[in-house]
Amino acid sequence: MAQNDKPQPETLAAQAMGFVDAESKGIVPPLHTATTFIRDPDNQYRSGRIYGRDDNPTYDHAEALLAALEGGREALVFASGMAAATAVFQALAPGDHVVAPRVMYWALRHWLLGFAKHWGLAVDIVDMDRLDALRAAVKPGRTKLVWIETPANPTWVVTDIAAAAEIAHAAGARLAVDSTVATPVLTRPIALGADIVMHSATKYLNGHSDVVAGALITRAADDYWTRVCSLRAQLGGILGPFEAWLLLRGMRTLYPRVELASRGAFAIATHFAKHPKIEQVLYPGLAGDPGHAVAKKQMQGGFGGMLSIRIKGGEAAAIAAAARVKIWKRATSLGGVESLLEHRASVEGAGSPAPPDLLRLSVGLEHVGDLVADLEQALEAR
Ligand SMILES: Cc1ncc(COP(=O)(O)O)c(C=O)c1O
Repeated sequence: MAQNDKPQPETLAAQAMGFVDAESKGIVPPLHTATTFIRDPDNQYRSGRIYGRDDNPTYDHAEALLAALEGGREALVFASGMAAATAVFQALAPGDHVVAPRVMYWALRHWLLGFAKHWGLAVDIVDMDRLDALRAAVKPGRTKLVWIETPANPTWVVTDIAAAAEIAHAAGARLAVDSTVATPVLTRPIALGADIVMHSATKYLNGHSDVVAGALITRAADDYWTRVCSLRAQLGGILGPFEAWLLLRGMRTLYPRVELASRGAFAIATHFAKHPKIEQVLYPGLAGDPGHAVAKKQMQGGFGGMLSIRIKGGEAAAIAAAARVKIWKRATSLGGVESLLEHRASVEGAGSPAPPDLLRLSVGLEHVGDLVADLEQALEAR
Protein backbone atom coordinates (compact mmCIF):
# COMPACT_ATOMS: atom_id res chain seq x y z
CA MET A 1 0.00 0.00 0.00
CA ALA A 2 1.05 3.56 -0.67
CA GLN A 3 0.91 6.31 1.95
CA ASN A 4 -2.60 7.05 3.29
CA ASP A 5 -3.56 3.43 2.47
CA LYS A 6 -4.15 4.47 -1.15
CA PRO A 7 -3.51 1.57 -3.51
CA GLN A 8 -0.77 2.01 -6.10
CA PRO A 9 -1.76 2.68 -9.75
CA GLU A 10 -0.85 -0.90 -10.73
CA THR A 11 -3.39 -2.17 -8.20
CA LEU A 12 -6.08 0.27 -9.32
CA ALA A 13 -5.58 -0.75 -12.94
CA ALA A 14 -5.45 -4.51 -12.35
CA GLN A 15 -8.63 -4.42 -10.26
CA ALA A 16 -10.48 -1.77 -12.32
CA MET A 17 -10.56 0.39 -9.15
CA GLY A 18 -11.80 -2.59 -7.13
CA PHE A 19 -15.30 -2.25 -8.55
CA VAL A 20 -17.81 -4.97 -7.59
CA ASP A 21 -21.23 -4.95 -9.24
CA ALA A 22 -23.81 -4.22 -6.50
CA GLU A 23 -26.50 -6.41 -8.05
CA SER A 24 -24.64 -9.53 -9.17
CA LYS A 25 -21.50 -9.22 -6.96
CA GLY A 26 -19.54 -9.79 -10.14
CA ILE A 27 -15.96 -8.52 -10.03
CA VAL A 28 -16.06 -7.39 -13.65
CA PRO A 29 -17.84 -4.10 -14.36
CA PRO A 30 -20.96 -4.65 -16.47
CA LEU A 31 -21.66 -3.41 -19.99
CA HIS A 32 -24.63 -1.04 -20.30
CA THR A 33 -26.19 -0.69 -23.72
CA ALA A 34 -29.22 1.51 -22.86
CA THR A 35 -29.45 4.69 -24.92
CA THR A 36 -32.14 6.21 -22.72
CA PHE A 37 -32.95 6.29 -19.00
CA ILE A 38 -36.19 6.43 -16.99
CA ARG A 39 -37.60 9.80 -16.00
CA ASP A 40 -39.00 9.95 -12.46
CA PRO A 41 -42.81 10.30 -12.09
CA ASP A 42 -42.34 13.86 -10.85
CA ASN A 43 -40.62 14.72 -14.14
CA GLN A 44 -37.06 14.74 -12.70
CA TYR A 45 -33.99 12.71 -13.73
CA ARG A 46 -32.58 11.83 -10.31
CA SER A 47 -30.33 9.10 -11.69
CA GLY A 48 -28.40 11.87 -13.43
CA ARG A 49 -28.71 10.10 -16.77
CA ILE A 50 -30.99 11.09 -19.61
CA TYR A 51 -29.68 10.01 -23.00
CA GLY A 52 -26.83 7.96 -24.42
CA ARG A 53 -25.17 10.79 -26.36
CA ASP A 54 -24.51 12.63 -23.08
CA ASP A 55 -23.15 9.72 -21.14
CA ASN A 56 -23.20 5.98 -20.54
CA PRO A 57 -22.70 4.11 -17.23
CA THR A 58 -20.08 1.90 -18.92
CA TYR A 59 -17.89 5.00 -19.26
CA ASP A 60 -17.83 5.56 -15.49
CA HIS A 61 -15.28 2.89 -14.65
CA ALA A 62 -12.93 3.66 -17.51
CA GLU A 63 -13.11 7.40 -16.79
CA ALA A 64 -12.61 6.97 -13.04
CA LEU A 65 -9.60 4.74 -13.64
CA LEU A 66 -8.10 7.18 -16.19
CA ALA A 67 -8.53 10.13 -13.79
CA ALA A 68 -6.91 8.12 -10.99
CA LEU A 69 -3.96 6.90 -13.07
CA GLU A 70 -3.25 10.39 -14.44
CA GLY A 71 -3.84 12.13 -11.09
CA GLY A 72 -6.53 14.31 -12.67
CA ARG A 73 -9.86 15.59 -11.42
CA GLU A 74 -12.06 14.10 -14.16
CA ALA A 75 -11.74 12.17 -17.41
CA LEU A 76 -13.83 11.76 -20.56
CA VAL A 77 -13.67 8.97 -23.10
CA PHE A 78 -14.26 9.77 -26.77
CA ALA A 79 -14.93 7.94 -30.03
CA SER A 80 -11.25 8.26 -31.02
CA GLY A 81 -8.04 10.00 -30.11
CA MET A 82 -8.81 12.57 -32.82
CA ALA A 83 -12.27 13.25 -31.32
CA ALA A 84 -10.60 13.85 -27.94
CA ALA A 85 -7.78 16.01 -29.30
CA THR A 86 -9.97 18.15 -31.54
CA ALA A 87 -12.34 18.86 -28.62
CA VAL A 88 -9.41 20.51 -26.82
CA PHE A 89 -9.05 22.99 -29.71
CA GLN A 90 -12.76 23.34 -30.43
CA ALA A 91 -13.35 24.49 -26.86
CA LEU A 92 -11.28 27.59 -27.68
CA ALA A 93 -12.77 30.74 -29.20
CA PRO A 94 -12.11 32.33 -32.59
CA GLY A 95 -9.16 34.68 -32.28
CA ASP A 96 -7.39 32.57 -29.63
CA HIS A 97 -3.73 31.83 -30.25
CA VAL A 98 -2.27 28.33 -29.89
CA VAL A 99 1.25 26.98 -30.11
CA ALA A 100 1.79 23.42 -31.38
CA PRO A 101 4.87 21.33 -32.17
CA ARG A 102 6.41 20.70 -35.57
CA VAL A 103 6.71 17.01 -34.71
CA MET A 104 3.33 15.68 -33.60
CA TYR A 105 0.69 13.16 -34.71
CA TRP A 106 0.43 14.11 -38.37
CA ALA A 107 -3.38 13.91 -38.78
CA LEU A 108 -3.89 16.26 -35.86
CA ARG A 109 -1.36 18.76 -37.25
CA HIS A 110 -3.13 18.53 -40.62
CA TRP A 111 -6.55 19.13 -39.03
CA LEU A 112 -5.24 21.95 -36.88
CA LEU A 113 -3.71 23.84 -39.77
CA GLY A 114 -6.87 23.45 -41.87
CA PHE A 115 -9.46 23.92 -39.12
CA ALA A 116 -7.60 26.77 -37.49
CA LYS A 117 -8.15 29.00 -40.52
CA HIS A 118 -11.91 28.40 -40.56
CA TRP A 119 -12.29 28.82 -36.82
CA GLY A 120 -10.06 31.90 -36.66
CA LEU A 121 -7.49 30.29 -34.36
CA ALA A 122 -3.98 31.69 -34.79
CA VAL A 123 -1.53 28.79 -34.80
CA ASP A 124 2.23 28.93 -34.43
CA ILE A 125 4.26 25.79 -34.96
CA VAL A 126 7.57 25.49 -33.12
CA ASP A 127 10.24 22.92 -32.33
CA MET A 128 9.04 22.04 -28.82
CA ASP A 129 12.37 20.61 -27.73
CA ARG A 130 13.66 24.19 -27.96
CA LEU A 131 12.19 25.99 -24.98
CA ASP A 132 13.47 29.35 -26.26
CA ALA A 133 11.32 28.82 -29.39
CA LEU A 134 8.25 28.16 -27.24
CA ARG A 135 9.05 31.16 -25.04
CA ALA A 136 9.30 33.38 -28.13
CA ALA A 137 6.08 32.00 -29.65
CA VAL A 138 3.66 32.51 -26.74
CA LYS A 139 1.76 35.79 -26.69
CA PRO A 140 0.87 36.71 -23.10
CA GLY A 141 -2.87 37.21 -22.78
CA ARG A 142 -3.60 35.91 -26.31
CA THR A 143 -2.17 32.41 -26.24
CA LYS A 144 -4.80 30.16 -24.74
CA LEU A 145 -3.30 26.74 -25.40
CA VAL A 146 0.11 25.16 -25.77
CA TRP A 147 -0.13 21.65 -27.24
CA ILE A 148 2.72 19.21 -26.85
CA GLU A 149 3.30 15.54 -27.59
CA THR A 150 6.09 13.68 -25.82
CA PRO A 151 7.76 11.52 -26.98
CA ALA A 152 6.47 12.76 -30.36
CA ASN A 153 5.65 10.79 -33.48
CA PRO A 154 7.61 9.70 -35.44
CA THR A 155 11.09 10.87 -34.38
CA TRP A 156 10.39 10.69 -30.61
CA VAL A 157 11.36 14.26 -29.86
CA VAL A 158 11.03 14.84 -26.12
CA THR A 159 9.48 18.00 -24.66
CA ASP A 160 10.15 19.13 -21.11
CA ILE A 161 6.61 19.09 -19.68
CA ALA A 162 7.37 21.03 -16.50
CA ALA A 163 9.20 23.78 -18.41
CA ALA A 164 6.49 23.97 -21.09
CA ALA A 165 3.83 24.26 -18.35
CA GLU A 166 5.73 27.10 -16.73
CA ILE A 167 6.01 28.99 -20.03
CA ALA A 168 2.34 28.36 -20.93
CA HIS A 169 1.08 29.41 -17.51
CA ALA A 170 3.23 32.57 -17.43
CA ALA A 171 1.51 33.58 -20.69
CA GLY A 172 -1.95 32.76 -19.31
CA ALA A 173 -2.34 29.61 -21.44
CA ARG A 174 -3.21 25.99 -20.68
CA LEU A 175 -0.81 23.16 -21.40
CA ALA A 176 -2.28 20.07 -23.09
CA VAL A 177 -0.13 16.96 -23.50
CA ASP A 178 -0.64 14.12 -25.97
CA SER A 179 0.71 11.38 -23.71
CA THR A 180 -0.36 8.47 -25.91
CA VAL A 181 3.15 7.05 -26.20
CA ALA A 182 4.30 7.63 -22.62
CA THR A 183 1.05 6.46 -20.94
CA PRO A 184 0.52 7.11 -17.22
CA VAL A 185 2.82 4.17 -16.56
CA LEU A 186 5.87 6.19 -17.62
CA THR A 187 4.82 9.85 -17.30
CA ARG A 188 2.18 11.74 -15.32
CA PRO A 189 1.92 15.13 -17.04
CA ILE A 190 -0.55 16.64 -14.53
CA ALA A 191 1.96 16.15 -11.71
CA LEU A 192 4.46 18.04 -13.89
CA GLY A 193 2.11 21.00 -14.37
CA ALA A 194 -0.04 20.06 -17.39
CA ASP A 195 -3.72 21.05 -17.44
CA ILE A 196 -5.07 18.49 -19.90
CA VAL A 197 -3.77 15.04 -20.82
CA MET A 198 -4.89 13.43 -24.07
CA HIS A 199 -4.63 9.81 -25.17
CA SER A 200 -5.34 7.93 -28.31
CA ALA A 201 -6.77 5.08 -26.22
CA THR A 202 -6.64 3.06 -29.43
CA LYS A 203 -2.97 2.49 -28.54
CA TYR A 204 -1.51 1.36 -25.20
CA LEU A 205 -4.54 2.04 -23.00
CA ASN A 206 -6.63 -0.54 -24.83
CA GLY A 207 -3.55 -2.32 -26.07
CA HIS A 208 -5.02 -5.04 -28.29
CA SER A 209 -5.52 -3.31 -31.67
CA ASP A 210 -9.27 -3.92 -31.47
CA VAL A 211 -10.76 -0.62 -30.25
CA VAL A 212 -10.59 2.94 -31.60
CA ALA A 213 -11.01 5.31 -28.64
CA GLY A 214 -9.75 8.53 -27.13
CA ALA A 215 -9.53 10.11 -23.69
CA LEU A 216 -9.00 13.45 -22.00
CA ILE A 217 -8.07 13.93 -18.37
CA THR A 218 -8.28 17.36 -16.71
CA ARG A 219 -6.52 18.91 -13.75
CA ALA A 220 -9.50 21.18 -12.99
CA ALA A 221 -13.26 20.97 -13.47
CA ASP A 222 -13.43 24.58 -14.71
CA ASP A 223 -15.47 26.41 -17.38
CA TYR A 224 -13.13 25.28 -20.12
CA TRP A 225 -13.65 21.63 -19.11
CA THR A 226 -17.41 22.19 -19.06
CA ARG A 227 -17.14 23.34 -22.70
CA VAL A 228 -15.12 20.20 -23.56
CA CYS A 229 -17.82 18.02 -21.93
CA SER A 230 -20.55 19.85 -23.87
CA LEU A 231 -18.64 19.34 -27.12
CA ARG A 232 -18.63 15.57 -26.66
CA ALA A 233 -22.37 15.50 -26.02
CA GLN A 234 -23.29 18.02 -28.71
CA LEU A 235 -20.98 16.94 -31.52
CA GLY A 236 -21.60 13.32 -30.58
CA GLY A 237 -18.04 11.98 -30.69
CA ILE A 238 -18.98 9.36 -28.11
CA LEU A 239 -17.49 5.95 -27.54
CA GLY A 240 -19.70 2.88 -28.01
CA PRO A 241 -20.46 1.08 -24.73
CA PHE A 242 -18.82 -2.14 -25.88
CA GLU A 243 -15.66 -0.22 -26.82
CA ALA A 244 -15.69 1.47 -23.40
CA TRP A 245 -16.02 -1.94 -21.76
CA LEU A 246 -13.17 -3.35 -23.85
CA LEU A 247 -11.06 -0.29 -23.05
CA LEU A 248 -11.42 -0.87 -19.32
CA ARG A 249 -10.61 -4.54 -19.81
CA GLY A 250 -7.48 -3.52 -21.73
CA MET A 251 -6.38 -1.04 -19.09
CA ARG A 252 -6.31 -3.76 -16.45
CA THR A 253 -3.07 -5.06 -17.99
CA LEU A 254 -1.68 -1.62 -18.92
CA TYR A 255 1.23 -1.65 -16.47
CA PRO A 256 2.82 -5.02 -17.34
CA ARG A 257 2.22 -4.43 -21.07
CA VAL A 258 3.91 -1.02 -21.12
CA GLU A 259 6.77 -2.20 -18.93
CA LEU A 260 7.43 -5.20 -21.18
CA ALA A 261 7.14 -3.18 -24.41
CA SER A 262 9.55 -0.56 -22.99
CA ARG A 263 12.08 -3.22 -22.07
CA GLY A 264 11.80 -4.73 -25.55
CA ALA A 265 12.18 -1.34 -27.26
CA PHE A 266 15.22 -0.52 -25.16
CA ALA A 267 16.83 -3.88 -26.06
CA ILE A 268 16.07 -3.41 -29.78
CA ALA A 269 17.30 0.22 -29.80
CA THR A 270 20.52 -0.81 -28.07
CA HIS A 271 21.05 -3.80 -30.35
CA PHE A 272 20.65 -1.82 -33.59
CA ALA A 273 22.29 1.45 -32.45
CA LYS A 274 25.60 0.54 -34.13
CA HIS A 275 24.30 -1.79 -36.84
CA PRO A 276 26.13 -1.46 -40.18
CA LYS A 277 22.84 -1.26 -42.16
CA ILE A 278 21.35 1.41 -39.92
CA GLU A 279 22.03 5.13 -40.19
CA GLN A 280 20.45 6.10 -36.87
CA VAL A 281 18.22 4.75 -34.13
CA LEU A 282 15.80 7.32 -32.70
CA TYR A 283 14.84 6.38 -29.15
CA PRO A 284 14.87 8.64 -26.06
CA GLY A 285 16.19 5.74 -23.97
CA LEU A 286 19.56 5.84 -25.73
CA ALA A 287 22.16 7.88 -23.83
CA GLY A 288 23.16 9.71 -27.04
CA ASP A 289 19.60 10.73 -27.97
CA PRO A 290 19.02 14.51 -27.83
CA GLY A 291 15.94 13.97 -25.64
CA HIS A 292 17.56 11.52 -23.21
CA ALA A 293 18.28 13.92 -20.32
CA VAL A 294 14.73 15.32 -20.25
CA ALA A 295 13.21 11.86 -20.80
CA LYS A 296 15.22 10.53 -17.85
CA LYS A 297 13.88 13.36 -15.70
CA GLN A 298 10.18 13.00 -16.59
CA MET A 299 9.75 9.32 -17.53
CA GLN A 300 9.86 6.67 -14.83
CA GLY A 301 10.44 2.99 -15.37
CA GLY A 302 11.26 3.10 -19.07
CA PHE A 303 11.30 5.16 -22.23
CA GLY A 304 8.34 3.61 -24.03
CA GLY A 305 7.75 0.96 -26.64
CA MET A 306 8.21 3.21 -29.70
CA LEU A 307 11.38 3.79 -31.69
CA SER A 308 12.38 4.57 -35.25
CA ILE A 309 15.28 3.34 -37.32
CA ARG A 310 16.79 5.11 -40.33
CA ILE A 311 17.97 2.64 -42.95
CA LYS A 312 21.20 3.16 -44.86
CA GLY A 313 20.41 3.40 -48.58
CA GLY A 314 17.44 5.76 -48.22
CA GLU A 315 13.74 5.35 -48.94
CA ALA A 316 13.96 2.38 -51.32
CA ALA A 317 16.15 0.42 -48.89
CA ALA A 318 13.77 1.20 -46.01
CA ILE A 319 10.69 0.06 -47.96
CA ALA A 320 12.54 -3.05 -49.12
CA ALA A 321 13.56 -3.94 -45.55
CA ALA A 322 9.95 -3.48 -44.39
CA ALA A 323 8.82 -5.83 -47.16
CA ARG A 324 11.03 -8.65 -45.80
CA VAL A 325 9.82 -8.83 -42.18
CA LYS A 326 8.09 -12.04 -41.17
CA ILE A 327 7.26 -11.59 -37.50
CA TRP A 328 6.79 -7.82 -37.34
CA LYS A 329 3.49 -6.81 -38.94
CA ARG A 330 3.63 -4.14 -41.67
CA ALA A 331 0.83 -1.91 -40.41
CA THR A 332 0.17 1.53 -39.03
CA SER A 333 -0.83 2.30 -35.42
CA LEU A 334 0.99 1.40 -32.23
CA GLY A 335 0.71 0.18 -28.67
CA GLY A 336 -0.79 -3.26 -29.35
CA VAL A 337 0.43 -6.65 -28.14
CA GLU A 338 1.81 -7.41 -31.61
CA SER A 339 4.86 -5.55 -32.97
CA LEU A 340 4.18 -3.25 -35.92
CA LEU A 341 6.51 -1.60 -38.38
CA GLU A 342 5.84 0.97 -41.08
CA HIS A 343 7.52 3.31 -43.54
CA ARG A 344 6.29 6.47 -41.89
CA ALA A 345 6.80 9.03 -44.69
CA SER A 346 4.44 6.95 -46.89
CA VAL A 347 1.74 7.37 -44.24
CA GLU A 348 2.24 11.06 -43.53
CA GLY A 349 2.77 12.38 -47.07
CA ALA A 350 3.77 15.95 -47.93
CA GLY A 351 5.03 18.12 -45.07
CA SER A 352 5.99 15.14 -42.91
CA PRO A 353 8.99 15.58 -40.62
CA ALA A 354 9.69 11.84 -41.12
CA PRO A 355 12.93 11.32 -43.06
CA PRO A 356 12.31 9.13 -46.15
CA ASP A 357 14.59 6.39 -44.79
CA LEU A 358 12.67 6.04 -41.51
CA LEU A 359 10.83 2.93 -40.33
CA ARG A 360 8.65 3.40 -37.26
CA LEU A 361 8.59 0.45 -34.85
CA SER A 362 5.94 -0.29 -32.23
CA VAL A 363 7.32 -3.01 -29.98
CA GLY A 364 4.77 -5.52 -28.71
CA LEU A 365 4.99 -8.40 -26.31
CA GLU A 366 6.67 -11.07 -28.42
CA HIS A 367 10.01 -12.59 -27.40
CA VAL A 368 12.51 -9.82 -28.07
CA GLY A 369 14.97 -12.34 -29.57
CA ASP A 370 12.43 -13.14 -32.30
CA LEU A 371 11.95 -9.44 -33.05
CA VAL A 372 15.69 -8.77 -33.25
CA ALA A 373 16.32 -11.83 -35.44
CA ASP A 374 13.48 -10.89 -37.81
CA LEU A 375 14.81 -7.34 -38.23
CA GLU A 376 18.34 -8.68 -38.71
CA GLN A 377 17.24 -10.93 -41.57
CA ALA A 378 15.15 -8.12 -43.09
CA LEU A 379 18.19 -5.83 -43.08
CA GLU A 380 20.68 -8.44 -44.28
CA ALA A 381 18.79 -9.97 -47.22
CA ARG A 382 19.47 -8.02 -50.38
C1 LIG B 1 0.25 10.16 -30.71
C2 LIG B 1 -1.11 10.04 -31.31
N1 LIG B 1 -2.04 10.95 -30.99
C3 LIG B 1 -3.29 10.88 -31.51
C4 LIG B 1 -3.65 9.89 -32.39
C5 LIG B 1 -5.05 9.84 -32.95
O1 LIG B 1 -5.75 8.82 -32.32
P1 LIG B 1 -6.93 7.95 -33.03
O2 LIG B 1 -6.33 7.24 -34.18
O3 LIG B 1 -7.39 7.08 -31.90
O4 LIG B 1 -7.97 8.94 -33.46
C6 LIG B 1 -2.72 8.92 -32.75
C7 LIG B 1 -3.08 7.84 -33.70
O5 LIG B 1 -2.24 7.25 -34.34
C8 LIG B 1 -1.41 9.00 -32.19
O6 LIG B 1 -0.47 8.10 -32.52
